[in-house]
Amino acid sequence: MFLFVLLCLNRVALADEVPPPWAYGFKTPAPPEVSLPVPPPASTNLVPKPADLILHHLPGTDRQFNRIQITDIFGPADWYPQDHPPMPEIVAKGKAPAVWACARCHYPNGKGRPENAPIAGLPVEYFIAQLHSFRAGDRQTSDVRKPNTKMMTEYARGLTEEEMRVAAEYFGSMKWTPWIRVIETDRVPQTTLSAGMFLPVANAPDEPIGNRIIEVPEDVEAVELLRNPRTGFIAYAPIGSIKRGEELVTTGGGRTLACAACHGPDLKGMTIPGIGTTPGLAGRSPSYLTRQMFDIKSGARRGPSVELMKPVVANLTSEDMLAISAFLASRIP
Ligand code: HEC
Ligand code: HEC
Repeated sequence: MFLFVLLCLNRVALADEVPPPWAYGFKTPAPPEVSLPVPPPASTNLVPKPADLILHHLPGTDRQFNRIQITDIFGPADWYPQDHPPMPEIVAKGKAPAVWACARCHYPNGKGRPENAPIAGLPVEYFIAQLHSFRAGDRQTSDVRKPNTKMMTEYARGLTEEEMRVAAEYFGSMKWTPWIRVIETDRVPQTTLSAGMFLPVANAPDEPIGNRIIEVPEDVEAVELLRNPRTGFIAYAPIGSIKRGEELVTTGGGRTLACAACHGPDLKGMTIPGIGTTPGLAGRSPSYLTRQMFDIKSGARRGPSVELMKPVVANLTSEDMLAISAFLASRIP
């Protein structure tokens, strides 16, 4: 009973803070129920149709793959092996049946997509700590409709310490390089959603951007059909958001703390003696960044090292987070 009242109070306290749906891969705000069943992961092992067996090509590689191979959860297509060091088994193939190949969602190069996470170039120590945090249930999501945070938790639970280290060292050995182009605009293409990723609708009239960042592939076919790990994203952001974000990030603007103190002068992450390492923020997915700030504020993402971020997000509104993320994503990493 006490717990129930507590849950209700918590709900009231957060009532005016609905997770910004765009950052979680939805068009409409989450319904207000305390808990919703987490939808089962979409089955991605396709039942072969003739079209799935057609071989596809990409520029700059003589490799060819069909859709079954491209989307294989235990060994997705590796179009450009020359772009990354040799992949450890856990990254390339995962561990059937419970752990999908990391490359399936984060790509072999760790660039990731807006609905998952940019994991290349993260400090090894931070990376491993996050896997422990998922495993402990300390990284959940504020929007209970989002299925893949739960999936990531299950993978972390299925990994050995050695596999965590090997994956962390592999992704940490690659630098984070430009991947997202931020464009300020007041109108955006109409979009549809595909498993948490926004895709522009061809030949549809544009629409007002409103209070959103809309992150879409630079080339829909290359990303959605072929999973080309060389094709990045465009993040459309409201006019003026980069400048507003810059003020908050660099001075705190009276609402937060300057980020460089802990994330390094270029916002590429740093080691804080006696505390640990912080992740890089420059040039990373603005949907991901806003999601994390919101989850830290709501308590969905928690743990000892997250305490340092609590005062940072305490007074930030979703609009502040949007502006901060637009600025951070626009930084050249
Ligand atoms: C089904 C897709 C999927 C697969 C496969 C997957 N991940 Fe993830 N991963 C995610 C999602 C989604 C998030 C972000 C969760 C969120 O935003 O709430 C994430 C986040 C992470 C993070 C946190 C990054 C940060 O900046 O804090 C790490 C580290 C990570 N994944 C490592 C791995 C490793 C290692 C593997 C392979 C063993 C793997 N992931 C496989 C979907 C996936
Ligand atoms: C007092 C130190 C401190 C300051 C100041 C700070 N951060 Fe952080 N931040 C951290 C730490 C530590 C983590 C890692 C938390 C963890 O281990 O899970 C983090 C993590 C994050 C993450 C999650 C990144 C990921 O890969 O999942 C985001 C986003 C973030 N910070 C944004 C910001 C922004 C924006 C600012 C400035 C407005 C800021 N931080 C200022 C210490 C700080």
